[in-house]
Amino acid sequence: MRKPLSTHDRIVLFPGSGHPGYSLPDGPSPPRGSLFTRQDAVTPAVTGPDILGGVTLAGKANFPVVGMIGGGQLARMAHQAGVPLGIRFKLLADTPQDSAAQVVSDVVLGDYRDLETLRRFAAGCDVVTFDHEHVPTEHLRALQADGVAVRPGPDALVNAQDKGVMRAKLDSIGVPCPRHRLVADPADVTAFAHEGAGYPVVLKTVRGGYDGKGVWVVDDEQEAAAPFLAGVPVLAEEKVDFVRELAANVVRSPSGQAVAYPVVESLQENGVCAEVTAPAPDLDPELAGEAQALALRIAGELDITGHLAVELFQTRDGRILVNELAMRPHNSGHWTQDGAVTSQFENHLRAVLDLPLGDPRPRAKWTVMVNVLGGDYPDMYHAFLHCMARDPGLRIHMYGKDVKPGRKVGHVNVFGDDLDDVRERARHAAAYLRGTITE
Ligand SMILES: Nc1ncnc2c1ncn2[C@@H]1O[C@H](COP(=O)(O)OP(=O)(O)OP(=O)(O)O)[C@@H](O)[C@H]1O
Ligand SMILES: [Mg+2]
Repeated sequence: MRKPLSTHDRIVLFPGSGHPGYSLPDGPSPPRGSLFTRQDAVTPAVTGPDILGGVTLAGKANFPVVGMIGGGQLARMAHQAGVPLGIRFKLLADTPQDSAAQVVSDVVLGDYRDLETLRRFAAGCDVVTFDHEHVPTEHLRALQADGVAVRPGPDALVNAQDKGVMRAKLDSIGVPCPRHRLVADPADVTAFAHEGAGYPVVLKTVRGGYDGKGVWVVDDEQEAAAPFLAGVPVLAEEKVDFVRELAANVVRSPSGQAVAYPVVESLQENGVCAEVTAPAPDLDPELAGEAQALALRIAGELDITGHLAVELFQTRDGRILVNELAMRPHNSGHWTQDGAVTSQFENHLRAVLDLPLGDPRPRAKWTVMVNVLGGDYPDMYHAFLHCMARDPGLRIHMYGKDVKPGRKVGHVNVFGDDLDDVRERARHAAAYLRGTITE
């Protein structure tokens, strides 16, 4: 008789494969060469309600239904990751044209800001998770009070929804952040500047921003007026003198399992992620370990379920500061689809279902992800011929979105042993698809 695996059996991943940038939660070190601390942890799990930690199963062959709120590309790719596992997927989308709505068979169209819509949607799901952080926190609390498994839960998610709440929380647990405070008006911004390094100051709307929308770098009080026009609270931050931006991505499940991906370097252009290199080149292994440990600590202290991206600044004087948190699959983790043993999307699904997490280690020495942004040419399919003929090693991921200038419509992953080569190929393909180069 096989012993059923309880989710409370602890699985601890450990470094020792020779792969860089991958760290462990706590627990004893297993012998080198094995992935799990417990031999029985690799025993095939017996399906059944007992292993699914509070998730009530409904329907076919006990395969659970994951409800995804939001129909963007993250939902599309999460769905894709669940297909081989037979995980059923239900989507709450705005329109049938949404990126994920084009590919998911069970789609509910509705407004995620409407509690009754959320309630009806959640009734058909075993667990509810998100492709964005814009669902009103009070609605999530109401769903939770109804008994819905909301993962991550509202108390955690609010830290990704509201940059003011997030800064206060990180301060309270001693996580290093840029100097910051909430500001009331442009004169208060000048006061903030005088308290520290002066102008320029970074101003952020506390809620609703994405891809640099809702972020201003202002040089004086006059410029500081713009963010206040929307009438929402504004957070001021020192403009960090960073050498580069990093991201520490971890995944945590309700029963406390956790895995950490290698720390990556991310390059933003005009506030939008342009390129990610995994692992971050020339990163001091000690600093990499510190960043992973910090992300695992944040995941634990905030009781996060699912994928957590901790966006970081590496400062000129060799420190790391937290920029912000995202509690869902993240652009800085897209490389894992082709460059890691288990992708961030699959691990997010495993985590919200409280299944044992998959191996986060890289499959290649280097993986570079370059985003494909919309350009002047709407016909990207035409470009496939050239890109695929030039480089059969490309991994192209398109989101089914209409091309609009600057809009993220896809990404390209390339992996291999030579960083310069991998980077050149990924950049070339993304630029060709966008139409900024023609050969
Ligand atoms: N305090 C700061 N100092 C210097 N640069 C900053 C600071 N805050 C933000 N930035 C720059 O602006 C970018 C966007 O900021 P932030 O991540 O807070 O906004 P966002 O719109 O919520 O981003 P996302 O696209 O990740 O959702 C950062 O990646 C960084 O390049
Ligand atoms: Mg950001």
